[in-house]
Amino acid sequence: MAHYVVEKSPALRGEITVQRSKNAVLPMMACCLMTRDCIGLTGVPRLADVDCMASLLGDLGAQVTRSRDEMSLCGADVSDYCTGRHWVERMRASVLAMGPLLARLGRARIQFPGGCAIGSRPIDLHLKGFAALGAHIALADGCIEAEAQRLHGAHIYLDFPSVGATENLMMAATLAQGTTVLENAAKEPEIADLAELLGKMGARICGAGGSTVTIEGVTALHGARHAPMPDRIEAGTLLLCAAATGGDVLLRGAQESTLAAVIAKLRECGARVERDAAGLRVRGGELTGVDIETLVYPGFPTDLQAPMMALLCRAQGTSILTEHIFENRFMQVPQLRRMGASITVRGRSAIVRGVCELHGAHVSATDLRAGAALVLAGLTAEGRTVVTDVAHIERGYVDLAGSLASLGAPVRRVE
Ligand code: EPZ
Repeated sequence: MAHYVVEKSPALRGEITVQRSKNAVLPMMACCLMTRDCIGLTGVPRLADVDCMASLLGDLGAQVTRSRDEMSLCGADVSDYCTGRHWVERMRASVLAMGPLLARLGRARIQFPGGCAIGSRPIDLHLKGFAALGAHIALADGCIEAEAQRLHGAHIYLDFPSVGATENLMMAATLAQGTTVLENAAKEPEIADLAELLGKMGARICGAGGSTVTIEGVTALHGARHAPMPDRIEAGTLLLCAAATGGDVLLRGAQESTLAAVIAKLRECGARVERDAAGLRVRGGELTGVDIETLVYPGFPTDLQAPMMALLCRAQGTSILTEHIFENRFMQVPQLRRMGASITVRGRSAIVRGVCELHGAHVSATDLRAGAALVLAGLTAEGRTVVTDVAHIERGYVDLAGSLASLGAPVRRVE
């Protein structure tokens, strides 16, 4: 099992290009199920979750190939509507195959998705939407099966602006008969990016990225090429690492518009963040505590709550972080306490009292973003930190250790 060895870091300096977005790429890959043509995605990050989605699509009959910077996904031979048990257990985003399969084949079956480290992760909103589009939903031997002769347009109100449900229903509705309106849709930028690819494929969507999305069903979709947006969560993670070490870093490709909440909070706690022609420039300083409430976009992203907590462990004063999105997303707390952090959890809130010093320790990554938080904490801790179970981290970061090392951080990956 690989692990990261992290020593206390000097101020990070230099510049780095942000990877393209994992959370934009995963639904885009599923779009290949909806056309007999090929779609091309450029700059697809080399991540475990991307490989997992490629394998799942291959099992369904799609051909997924990579050459240099281009991924080609061809759905001509897609025939199977059943994703195997192991895919959903390995990666929640496998559920994003349901909408495309339902639209293309009229059937979709997935293993009933269990929870994961950060929460129960139900898909009731996905299924309620599929039923509104005319699908019959059945549960049998641990599987969920959706079936429809032909999907029809519907007016769907999402009880919660779920990112995955918005994406799944938007994809399914592109081939439904008639018009679909999604009310209270998620507004995360990855949704507008997905709609841009679908539009290039011939779909007729308007309002994506806002809370009301309208989809005019068409009879067929065709091939297209697309370059997914930069990864705002990787960019935010690197911003926080640079600020935590008092560094001066230029993040090429980082988009101010998709990180407004994070930038505002970084400025509030004393860092400087400026827009640069190439992206964002961050300079650290003496950091003071701030309060954070994770909210749906454009609020503070839940995916950066753990890395922000790690930064605030060394800020002056007290911070209160409240996690409104997932019910179990403080898994990094026991690990940060092993490094000397002073954190009290009360329900959905964590009270962080800044300490003068963290000290290196052996800690384990329990999930993707908690793992990134431990690396950030290691950069500011005295002595050596060993982060184990880094496979979690490598599901979402192409090379976090290498990226940080290129900015001067003493971080190395050890098999
Ligand atoms: C997406 O997950 C992201 N994953 C997550 O990123 C991200 O944390 C999350 O959105 C929130 O921004 C991908 O895009 C692949 P949700 P998703 O449906 O779609 C509840 C990472 O670290 N809910 O918006 O699963 C759910 O339980 C990952 O990159 C229902 O109750 O998120 C949760 O409490 C982690 N019923 C809340 O909504 C449903 O049918 C947000 O879930 C669906 C969701």
